[in-house]
Amino acid sequence: MPQVTREEVYKVLERVTDPELGGNIVELGMVSGVAVDPDGHVEVGIALTIAECPMRGTIEGDTARRVKSLPGVTDVEVVTTAMTKKQRSEVMQTARKRARDDAEPTQVSPTTRVVAVSSGKGGVGKSSVSTNLALALSDLGFSVGLLDADIWGFSIPRMLGATQKLVADDDTKLIQPAVVQGIKMVSTGLIIESEETALMWRGLMLSKALEQFLGQVEWGELEYLVIDMPPGTGDIQMALGRLLPQAEMVVVTTPQKAAQKVAVRVADMARRSYMPIVGVIENMAGFTCEHGETYNLFGSGGGRVLSDEISVPLLGSIPLDPAVVAGGDEGAPVVRADPDNPAARAFSALASALVEVVPPAEDERCTGRIAKLVAQLEEGLEPAASG
Ligand SMILES: Nc1ncnc2c1ncn2[C@@H]1O[C@H](COP(=O)(O)OP(=O)(O)O)[C@@H](O)[C@H]1O
Ligand SMILES: [Mg+2]
Repeated sequence: MPQVTREEVYKVLERVTDPELGGNIVELGMVSGVAVDPDGHVEVGIALTIAECPMRGTIEGDTARRVKSLPGVTDVEVVTTAMTKKQRSEVMQTARKRARDDAEPTQVSPTTRVVAVSSGKGGVGKSSVSTNLALALSDLGFSVGLLDADIWGFSIPRMLGATQKLVADDDTKLIQPAVVQGIKMVSTGLIIESEETALMWRGLMLSKALEQFLGQVEWGELEYLVIDMPPGTGDIQMALGRLLPQAEMVVVTTPQKAAQKVAVRVADMARRSYMPIVGVIENMAGFTCEHGETYNLFGSGGGRVLSDEISVPLLGSIPLDPAVVAGGDEGAPVVRADPDNPAARAFSALASALVEVVPPAEDERCTGRIAKLVAQLEEGLEPAASG
């Protein structure tokens, strides 16, 4: 019997993929070690992103099968462990890079910051936050787009008071986004007749609509594209991560302290969609009445708990305020209709906080270049001539 080498084992392990992350376990850095005994006993260490990884059985089985197929291997032991936070973030980076390399081109510029406004559940105010955040970013002087990715449950047109229909440019054949209140906006609500007809499009359009909105809309050079995500953690999230590898996620939550469950759900969504979570937004926080008394109708502290749980900053806390509802119903979002209102001010502060965490691409280019230079020096390469 020939003696099997560690190199040979690594070679076959390159054929074992993490179906969810879409890369092989060696490339993803999930192989923590390989030991080969002279008698042909092989031990493979696999570090899973999370201990309760749903793909655990598949990965373990594939690993054992592949390694056993090598001549000279008498038996295989697969030892799985869970990754540390740092290891996990490195794996996610590799997975993201892969996704980016495989990504289909879209009309969204690679320098546009894409912020997907998500949540673990519906009705927490994603659309209200998306709309007011987009307008507040625009008020800071940025060029902003707002994509309503809630394909059948769209509410952005109503919130912005937009009634026009989308048209395509005669020459480029590209769909022109509606320009409303200074931002570019696209929604299925600008294509179909009524909210009732939306139901008919269910399923039919769902998978294609997002692709079209990203691939066939002439967005132009935006600094920020805010995406109002549909509720839940499903297909649209995954598709977005695939189509727009630069997309990052902010999570809207209520002040209720049921954060543990939400945290697990959004962390799982981030993992499956490759979208890193950049911050938490608490919405419907303490309502202050005209006498100055604050009522925590939906509890308090949930935003902080969730942000601690998933180790990202709490970007803002938006108070519960009737002006948010009225603004949304009348096409006059509170940041524009009543900028001094406490909720409006909270939205403006949120926009500034977001810009801190996710600065416009141009501001980052310089540090990006330095980072690349340092990386090249570390690798012992001659730094490429900088342009
Ligand atoms: N900060 C807030 N204060 C008061 N009402 C709010 C606030 N945020 C959202 N709402 C209201 O809650 C309801 C759900 O908000 P919406 O933005 O449509 O949530 P989602 O998009 O998550 O389903 C709407 O009627 C909206 O006006
Ligand atoms: Mg919504």
